[in-house]
Amino acid sequence: MTDASSPATATAHANIALIKYWGKADDELIIPVTSSLSLTLDALYTTTTVRFGIDGDADEATLDGEVVTGKAYNRIVDLLDLVRERAGITDRAEVISVNTVPTAAGLASSASGFAALAGAAAAAAGLELSDRELSRLARRGSGSASRSIFGGLAVWHAGTDDDSSYAEPVADPTGLSRDLAMVVLVLDAGEKSVSSREGMRRTVQTSPDYRSWVEEHAGHLASAMEAVKNGDLERLGAVAEENAAGMHGTMASAVPPVEYVTDQSRAALAAVKALREEGLPAWATMDAGPNVKVLTRASEAERVDARLREMLAEVAPQLGTVVAYSGPGLEITRPDDREAN
Ligand code: PMV
Repeated sequence: MTDASSPATATAHANIALIKYWGKADDELIIPVTSSLSLTLDALYTTTTVRFGIDGDADEATLDGEVVTGKAYNRIVDLLDLVRERAGITDRAEVISVNTVPTAAGLASSASGFAALAGAAAAAAGLELSDRELSRLARRGSGSASRSIFGGLAVWHAGTDDDSSYAEPVADPTGLSRDLAMVVLVLDAGEKSVSSREGMRRTVQTSPDYRSWVEEHAGHLASAMEAVKNGDLERLGAVAEENAAGMHGTMASAVPPVEYVTDQSRAALAAVKALREEGLPAWATMDAGPNVKVLTRASEAERVDARLREMLAEVAPQLGTVVAYSGPGLEITRPDDREAN
């Protein structure tokens, strides 16, 4: 029996976009300007437990043992409100989250965080949602979270309204996702100064390059999808790198500029290019932070990691790396699963 006061736990993995989402067509519903394509990663994830029906008149949330306050708290409450509305309940909730992703450093913690929250809250409220409905719900917390409902390669269709904006798995006839890896270069695990929400808003409103990036974007996505279909890592890597560079170009020309790329990021980007010249498969992508993620072939990931550590030892002595492979989709432990045990 499921009832609204039983807790539910969900684990969701972070995803890194190969073809990016940057800019909203609808701020309230989080409808993006562009569709996007991502790889879900095994090594970075969030586990969240939600229980409705606590005493008191406010939701309570902790992340890694710390009480969540301010804007981050309000975003959690907003997502819980959507779940309460749908389930027809008014109970307040306790949310306990544990992250293996450094929070808010452009390492996709909001993707895994809101996907796990959507899964756990829906199950704790007794809702039986399809993966597509969970993707739409997670999207309301953070756009990129729509993709973390799924493992491997996922595409988020921009759509035009709440119903049509959701992610789904990408057909992968050659099993390319199993051959992919990401070497995450953690140059700075601190919190970013400009949120992705603010960074994209400013870019859409002020960058003279934004429209041309959007125009190129459809071709980038088509090319990436074709590369997946053909199992062509070289083509996928090249277009992913070009798409991310274009996105950061739009940020650089925003007013004032949205600056996530640091000197150390630039050194990492140059090292990735040098690795390619050595004949290793390596392509760089970056998100709303200074860290660089390097797409490579799973069988070469340890070598790429070791070479990048060597090459960056002097310029970034604090560098930490995470070698991640294709990860699974959302896993929910429903209240009734627990009772069965
Ligand atoms: O985490 P969000 O939903 O605010 O979006 C961030 C967008 C990027 O990470 C920069 C790109 C992407 O598609 O994930």
